[in-house]
Amino acid sequence: MPLKGKHIVLGISGGIAAYKSAYLLRLLIRKGAEVQVVITPNGKEFITPATLAALSGKPVVSEFFAANTGEWHSHVDLGIWADLMIVAPATASTIGKMANGIADNMLITTYLSAKEQVMVAPAMDLDMWAHPSTQRNVSRLRQDGVIIVEPAAGELASGLTGKGRMEEPEKIVEAAEKYFLRQENKPLTGKRVVVSAGPTYENIDPVRFIGNYSSGKMGFAIANAFRQAGADVTLVAGPVGNDLKLYSGIRRINVRSALEMLEAMEKEFLCSDIAVCAAAVADYAPAEYADKKIKRAKTDGMTLHLVKNPDISARLGAIKGQRFLAGFALETDNELINALSKMERKNLDMIVLNSLRDEGAGMMTDTNKITILTREGNTYGYDLKSKREVAEDIVSFIAGHIGGDD
Ligand code: CTP
Repeated sequence: MPLKGKHIVLGISGGIAAYKSAYLLRLLIRKGAEVQVVITPNGKEFITPATLAALSGKPVVSEFFAANTGEWHSHVDLGIWADLMIVAPATASTIGKMANGIADNMLITTYLSAKEQVMVAPAMDLDMWAHPSTQRNVSRLRQDGVIIVEPAAGELASGLTGKGRMEEPEKIVEAAEKYFLRQENKPLTGKRVVVSAGPTYENIDPVRFIGNYSSGKMGFAIANAFRQAGADVTLVAGPVGNDLKLYSGIRRINVRSALEMLEAMEKEFLCSDIAVCAAAVADYAPAEYADKKIKRAKTDGMTLHLVKNPDISARLGAIKGQRFLAGFALETDNELINALSKMERKNLDMIVLNSLRDEGAGMMTDTNKITILTREGNTYGYDLKSKREVAEDIVSFIAGHIGGDD
């Protein structure tokens, strides 16, 4: 009973699917949770606070102040009280406000004060869901660590058919249960892990470099998933944007070049149990660095002489001993054969294969599709998922593998 005794704030915004929130509320209560409803002014147009108060056994919170007494409703207290906040239904407008911190109602102020996990179940018409603005906001919420319970495809209130319908209450409850089970299950407590993430930049002169498109999302998600599994985590991050969120307690070492990454990874690996090389290390670096900007007027053309960078994962493979070492293989063809030979060459225990032939997989996406190959010769295929879910799969695989499940 993972929901038993849990404090849940159920945020309801103004969409037709709000009628399903009453059933969702009942299911949560039936599973033993204590639920406080926060509803937006528009939400009340779709379902009455009286129904929700009767089902939850608590007065519904909606206004900043109680109309009769002038008493202030503290969103801060609610944010601290909640073990989980579920916003269902989340309209395009509420999602947009959450993504941008527009705190003009109790639901949003509570969201901004929430200390623990937030989960959002979007509900809207298919065109609104597909709109770049909505997708941008959803992706920002994901980056902020919010769990998105993807809307289902089906008949919509508009009479159109497509993706946008709020997921069924049973599925939302399932996602909440899964979250709490993960929280309780900390199989890697006491293990030290180092993860590399992002690209490396190899300087040509003070203003130019050789780099690649790696966003760092996969590596950051892996570091977070290890933390969630109880491990003591160090992340060695190449130059990535500053919008990637890391869970508290993770130590972050910033590096720029492959050589800096190698130095940090070798040092950390020696005092770790597990390393995951998720960085897209530049394979080549300029042989020489010009310490002043190379002037266009003084050159007709240019040939850059590049030298090979060290293979960080292979260097770790050479000093591995009893430690567990995992790497990635990004391939465009002969995927399995290439990945297997990479695992062998680098002395890895496991390799995570991404094929650029799979839509939604690889460097610049929020999703990924992986196949895990192990040293023992086993192959495990996974569906296309968000990078966060892929990271959780990888970490629970490693936890199981170390525990001898494979
Ligand atoms: N890797 C590394 N150091 C490098 C290159 C790669 O540690 N100089 C690691 C990556 O972090 C990844 C794995 O090796 O875990 C495979 O990276 P990938 O780019 O797929 O392969 P390469 O070894 O670069 O081989 P190729 O370019 O021939 O595919």
